[in-house]
Amino acid sequence: MKIKYTALVLLIIIFFNTTAFADTSIDNGKAIFIARCTSCHNVNAQVVGPALANVDQRHSVDWIVNFVHSPKTMISKNDKDAVALYNQFNQIVMPDHSDLSVDDIKNVLAYIKSETKTVTTEAPFSKPGKLVPNYHPLSIENNYGFFITYLIAVALLILLLIFAVNVKDVQRKNSSSK
Ligand code: HEC
Repeated sequence: MKIKYTALVLLIIIFFNTTAFADTSIDNGKAIFIARCTSCHNVNAQVVGPALANVDQRHSVDWIVNFVHSPKTMISKNDKDAVALYNQFNQIVMPDHSDLSVDDIKNVLAYIKSETKTVTTEAPFSKPGKLVPNYHPLSIENNYGFFITYLIAVALLILLLIFAVNVKDVQRKNSSSK
């Protein structure tokens, strides 16, 4: 009974450890972006709408939230940037996404940031700009705490299983020798 309880606690620790390290805001932003935006946008390339890389450097977060909620309203209010974009992109009006919350849009921005290809320029003309991959695999250096807790928890689980098997063995021997 005790062994089962300890195993359960260990499993819970492993589970929380894993989920705590996964960035949920980026995952949420990615899901929204793929479902609602990829038909017209790509982070690093122009499609129907502009490439969205570094969009948070071109506009304030407030502006982006208002724009995503209702580009039409912004254009009709003669917002300078919105009108310029509208004219630049062949007067295609981006549809309203007024049901997205401010946090949803911030998550989309976090996802855009995580997908943005950064060009590292070490010295001008020394070598062509290098594209840095934007995925961050779990690595021992970056996720030291995660790996240590994970390994300890797994090791404890294995020890626990060995222990449980041994206890059963001893019990069996005891009862058969009687
Ligand atoms: C039907 C196509 C379409 C969809 C879907 C769409 N957009 Fe757009 N988007 C555009 C166009 C076109 C523009 C350029 C502005 C204009 O024409 O009004 C734009 C502009 C933008 C801009 C301003 C970009 C800049 O460079 O300043 C942002 C931010 C943006 N969109 C975010 C989004 C997000 C977030 C979604 C998904 C929730 C989305 N868009 C879905 C077509 C679309």
